[in-house]
Amino acid sequence: MKVLVIGSHGQIGKKITAKLHKENHEVLAMVRNEAQVEEMEKLGGKAIIADLEGDLSPAFNEKPDAVIFTAGSGAHTGKDKTMSVDLQGALKSIDESVKHGASRFVMISALGANNAEQAPDSMRPYFVAKSEADQYLVQSELDYTILRPGRLTDNAGKGSVNASESIEDYGNREISRDDVATAAVALLGMRNTHKKVIELLEGNTPVHDALQAI
Ligand SMILES: NC(=O)c1ccc[n+]([C@@H]2O[C@H](COP(=O)([O-])OP(=O)(O)OC[C@H]3O[C@@H](n4cnc5c(N)ncnc54)[C@H](OP(=O)(O)O)[C@@H]3O)[C@@H](O)[C@H]2O)c1
Repeated sequence: MKVLVIGSHGQIGKKITAKLHKENHEVLAMVRNEAQVEEMEKLGGKAIIADLEGDLSPAFNEKPDAVIFTAGSGAHTGKDKTMSVDLQGALKSIDESVKHGASRFVMISALGANNAEQAPDSMRPYFVAKSEADQYLVQSELDYTILRPGRLTDNAGKGSVNASESIEDYGNREISRDDVATAAVALLGMRNTHKKVIELLEGNTPVHDALQAI
C-alpha cells in the first residue's frame, strides 16, 4: 500500500515510517522542513515537503492509498496552533483524502476526545480539536480507524496492548509510542477495524490479536 504519513517526523511518526517500510509498504513521509528529509529517507520513507498550515497538494499529488495522521502542534504552543494544526490541519487532510481517493484513513486521536468538556481548562482546546476532527472523519466517506491512545510514554514497546471500542478499566492510562505505532501499522489492512473508534492502552494481548477482536 502507498501510505502517506502526516507528522512523519514526530516521535510516533518516525516509528510508523520505519515500521511501514519494514512491512514493505511504500511510505510518503510528509515533513515541513528540508532539514528533515535525509532522516526520513534513512527510515525508508520518500520525504515530501508540505505544511498542514499551507498547501498539502505536494503530498496528495503522489496518490497515496492510505493516510496516517499523527501530527500535532505539541504541548508548548498556544490555542491558535492547536486550532490550525490539530483541528484545521486534520480537516484539510480528510478533505484532501476524499478528493484524491485515499480511501483508508487512520487518525491518531487521544483517549478522552469523546469527553472534551471534562478536560481540565488548559487541555480543553486540545481535546475539543481532537473531538471535532474525529467527528468530521466519522462523517466522511473514508474507511477510517480512529485510534485513541492514552498518555504516551517513551518506554520500549511490548508488542501487546489493551484495545477496545470502550475499555472497562483504564488503569494508569498509559501506552508507549512504540506500541501505538505498531497498532497503527497493523490495523491498516484489517477490515474489521474500518469505521471504528479504538481506545488503546498498555496491556497483555498481542497487538494483532487485540485488534482482530475489535
Ligand atoms: N502526548 C500524549 O500523551 C498524547 C496522547 C494521545 C495522543 N497524542 C497524539 O499523538 C500524536 C503524535 O504524538 P507525538 O508524541 O508523536 O507528537 P510529536 O512528536 O510532537 O509529533 C508531531 C509532529 O507533527 C508535526 N507537525 C506539527 N505542525 C505541523 C504542520 N503545520 N505541518 C506538518 N506537520 C506538523 C511536527 O513536525 P516537526 O517535527 O517539524 O515539529 C511533528 O513531527 C499527536 O496527534 C498527539 O496529539 C498525544
